[in-house]
Amino acid sequence: MQKPANGSEINQGIKSERILWSGTALCMAALLILAGRQALSEDLPRSLNLHGGKAIYDAACVACHGTKGEGTPKTSAGFDPPNSFPHFNKCDETTPEFTRDYKAAIRDGGPARGFSTIMPSFSGVLTSAQMDEVIAYLRGLCKEKGWPVGELNVPRALLTEKAFPESETILTATVNTKGPPAIANELVYERVLGKLDQLEVALPFGWVHKGSGGYSGGLGDIAIGDKHILYSHLNESPYQSAYESTGSILSIQGEVVLATGDRKRGLGAGEPSLGVFAMYDRLLGHQAFMQIQTGINIPRHTEFGPRSLYLRSAFGKSIAGDGNLGRLWSPMVEIIGNRDLTSGTKTDWDAVPEFQVTINRRQHIRAAVGYLMPINDTSGRPQQIIAYFLWDWFDGGLLEGW
Ligand code: HEC
Repeated sequence: MQKPANGSEINQGIKSERILWSGTALCMAALLILAGRQALSEDLPRSLNLHGGKAIYDAACVACHGTKGEGTPKTSAGFDPPNSFPHFNKCDETTPEFTRDYKAAIRDGGPARGFSTIMPSFSGVLTSAQMDEVIAYLRGLCKEKGWPVGELNVPRALLTEKAFPESETILTATVNTKGPPAIANELVYERVLGKLDQLEVALPFGWVHKGSGGYSGGLGDIAIGDKHILYSHLNESPYQSAYESTGSILSIQGEVVLATGDRKRGLGAGEPSLGVFAMYDRLLGHQAFMQIQTGINIPRHTEFGPRSLYLRSAFGKSIAGDGNLGRLWSPMVEIIGNRDLTSGTKTDWDAVPEFQVTINRRQHIRAAVGYLMPINDTSGRPQQIIAYFLWDWFDGGLLEGW
């Protein structure tokens, strides 16, 4: 990533030619945008501070996105704003966004992320560093403190739950490749509630092999929970590249698991239970990350199963081509530990190598696949292929952004 020039460099004659050219290009862009508006001469910026996010925004973006990022009324902008038109002053809309998605739209224009062609490409007009500056400025248009920043939203692992709240729907399938034949599915619905909370509803269903032959299917134990952010922080200076960001987020979640599944058919625990867990995710820089989830399951009567503790962790790194803005691949390894709270039991450990990949241009449709294998006490414990399909509906419809 290119770093922005500092003040002394700007004054060097060597650079002045480039600055003159980009200044001219910026003016041209502003001219094009402002053409058709009245009072053209008054609107044109007279001098451009090329290394200030606000100056770049005011010159090149304000005509369509409005002085506070609220969007220009149709009458003066001259276009019908699409449903997905961003309001940069609305924290709930903008803080969950990834910097790389913003940058792709700015560098390559709306269609690069499956958005409208009205959003022009600024490639050749703004340098990479200027794009970072204008994004830092856009980020600052949300004036409320305390919203968790999208960069802290690490890729979802197959088993370890992450701390960042989401508005998405995920369909997971687990198939035993060793052990009793069974297929387990889970449909999870997540919805952000305000600044710090998220509702979660999990609907498991599956097929188990019957002793008499064939499979019997049905609903499992439905879980309803609330995730609450306790802490989130991104170490970011306005001139730092997003790919180097470090930071962390900590959340807790409580959930109620209802005994909706049929235990006799192997589809449920047979009694309701409570679950409490904490999640801690950390960005390690250069798009590497670590995720930890630890919790306890408390069955109501412990008639059919004991209380249990678990520790889940995921380590990985995201990689993207095309100047870091292309398809995002996130290889990870999860290490999972489970322990029943009865005397004399050992902790079962599993490892899950896996990867997640973005499928469409807007990158809000993703898939992941991995292989779960026991590390210790391997006899009698299943090996499984686990895969999910994820739709981050906050960013658009299932058929949008391809
Ligand atoms: C000619 C009008 C116009 C100009 C000029 C313009 N934009 Fe846009 N921009 C749009 C429209 C319209 C959209 C919404 C596209 C959609 O949702 O389909 C958009 C979308 C975006 C997005 C995507 C937001 C998201 O949801 O991911 C970003 C980021 C953005 N603009 C930043 C900028 C910046 C920065 C500038 C100035 C350097 C700029 N725009 C200049 C019209 C414009």
